[in-house]
Amino acid sequence: MPKAELHIHIEGSLEPELIFALAQRNQIAIPYASVEALRSAYAFTNLQSFLDIYYAGASVLLQEQDFYDMAHAYLARAAADNVVHTEIFFDPQTHTARGVAMETVLHGLHRACMDAQKMWGLSAVLILCFLRHLSEEDAFATLEQALPLRDKFIGIGLDSSELGHPPEKFARVFARCRALGFRLVAHAGEEGPPAYIWSALDVLKVERIDHGVQSTHDPLLLQRLARDRIPLTVCPLSNQKLRVFPDLAQHNLGALLDAGLVATVNSDDPAYFGGYLNENFTQTFAATGLGAPHAYQLAANSFEASFIPAEQKQALVGRLQAYFLKFE
Ligand code: HPA
Ligand code: ZN
Repeated sequence: MPKAELHIHIEGSLEPELIFALAQRNQIAIPYASVEALRSAYAFTNLQSFLDIYYAGASVLLQEQDFYDMAHAYLARAAADNVVHTEIFFDPQTHTARGVAMETVLHGLHRACMDAQKMWGLSAVLILCFLRHLSEEDAFATLEQALPLRDKFIGIGLDSSELGHPPEKFARVFARCRALGFRLVAHAGEEGPPAYIWSALDVLKVERIDHGVQSTHDPLLLQRLARDRIPLTVCPLSNQKLRVFPDLAQHNLGALLDAGLVATVNSDDPAYFGGYLNENFTQTFAATGLGAPHAYQLAANSFEASFIPAEQKQALVGRLQAYFLKFE
């Protein structure tokens, strides 16, 4: 079915094969003997155990063409899954800290997004994420570096190690981004408590919550998310691999939909978590017993939750309805 993807870290789409190819192209040593050895290191116990290997993998990205190749590979994969619109996170601090220029990162990613529209009719936009384990001062400096390229990204997000780094740590820089007219999102309630979701909404004033699955521990918060139609970008295979839920069968995606929330399904870091978007749908549906009406709702939610202009949203929901009518 046609759908949007709203929670994908482009550095998390870097497959082991491409890590090895880029390491060779850029003459960078990596501490793994083979693609298989690298892939077998992907055994995570929590968010931090994943982030350590995810940042190490990104160290092979140096040239504009490397960023293009990474994004192009993801976009080709997304198009094959019938993703018709995608909003892609990138972590500039992971690259600028290694001496890679902001222009190198953004020019490569943006060119791949433009080509996706031409090649597959797939619209792709970029969201710049601040790393929350770094300081707010560092986030401000990153924003300053990116502002000359502001036509190349539409929004601002917040990712990396959640526990101990509550949203309010970034109150001032998000206020500045809001004044500048960026769309705002933040990871909250992946491993962190419902309080982090409240402060992402009330302090950062984000329009969408990334993950947000811990919201089911707070009935008042569920009411707030439903009332204000604040979307959650849920990532089931990520939650399974990082042990947010003991197994996929216990995932609360169905409960979130039942509570009337604008929940969506997304791949997060597909090269690390064992599946792109369709795989997230099929594995989650097989494990939890969700069915076709839920699939329709999740795809419709993905368009509602997106930052596409309203009239284009309507057209995409129309395409979705036409797709489901074929099965009536
Ligand atoms: N959570 C926080 N930071 C991240 C993630 C995630 O799931 N993926 C990449 N960076
Ligand atoms: Zn994420």
